[in-house]
Amino acid sequence: MARLDKIYLGTNTKMYKTIADTVDYLMGLNAFTAEVPRSRLELFVIPSFTTLDAARRCIPAVKISLGAQNMGWEDEGQFTGEISPLMLKEVGVKIVEIGHSERRHVLGETDLQENKKVLCALRHGFTPLLCIGETAEQKELGVSDEILCMQLKIGLHGVIPEQAKNLWVAYEPVWAIGVNGVPATKEYADEKHAVIRQTLVELFGYEVGSDIPILYGGSVNRDNAEELIQMPNIDGLFIGRSAWNAASFSEIIQAVMPLFFARKKSFKSLI
Ligand code: 13P
Repeated sequence: MARLDKIYLGTNTKMYKTIADTVDYLMGLNAFTAEVPRSRLELFVIPSFTTLDAARRCIPAVKISLGAQNMGWEDEGQFTGEISPLMLKEVGVKIVEIGHSERRHVLGETDLQENKKVLCALRHGFTPLLCIGETAEQKELGVSDEILCMQLKIGLHGVIPEQAKNLWVAYEPVWAIGVNGVPATKEYADEKHAVIRQTLVELFGYEVGSDIPILYGGSVNRDNAEELIQMPNIDGLFIGRSAWNAASFSEIIQAVMPLFFARKKSFKSLI
């Protein structure tokens, strides 16, 4: 399984960091991770739109992949405030983050809108990073699994297996994200990743469905990153606050990588 050859580690800087901050941050992160072979690490940063051009110029894409935090679903048109896939292509973006919890729950995006964005991103050759996750209320009501399945089935409606090879998924429970968030326990996160995996296999077949990376996000920090990455269904970490300092992010990267590959070895010995 190619998915297990690499660990996926990245951050979304949300509405933080100016152009100068982002360039500084990327240069630092690149320097701190200079020795880490990129054949084993997919390192990505998703900064704000205005920083993308400068960001791409300061770091080679093979070292740190860049993503956009959102994207409109038409190439152009009367969509004030939206950003076009053509504009993102122009600045060398690889990943398009779609359906982050803050876009769904603060800005009111729906699964149907996320679906249009996923299809558009795939059409343009981007890697869509579809974010899904249940709210605290849905968790309380015991419908988390159903919500995850629904978000995947609507969000990925019309995606064919060949296209799904370019897809990444992030499980980010809404209640776990941000300053008031409580991180999911490793057992809970792993269980939900298994539900997501099962749905992806149902949608795209075993070969493709079992190879799509699933990242966990929501209050990941230096203390819980190691236990999360040792769980069999977690392929990477999507980190906010704890990754916004290059040295601290690099510390997390160095700590989790050996654990991930040790896990991979023991997995391989089972098959
Ligand atoms: P925090 O790690 O700050 O909770 O944010 C996670 C997140 O939203 C990543 O997209």
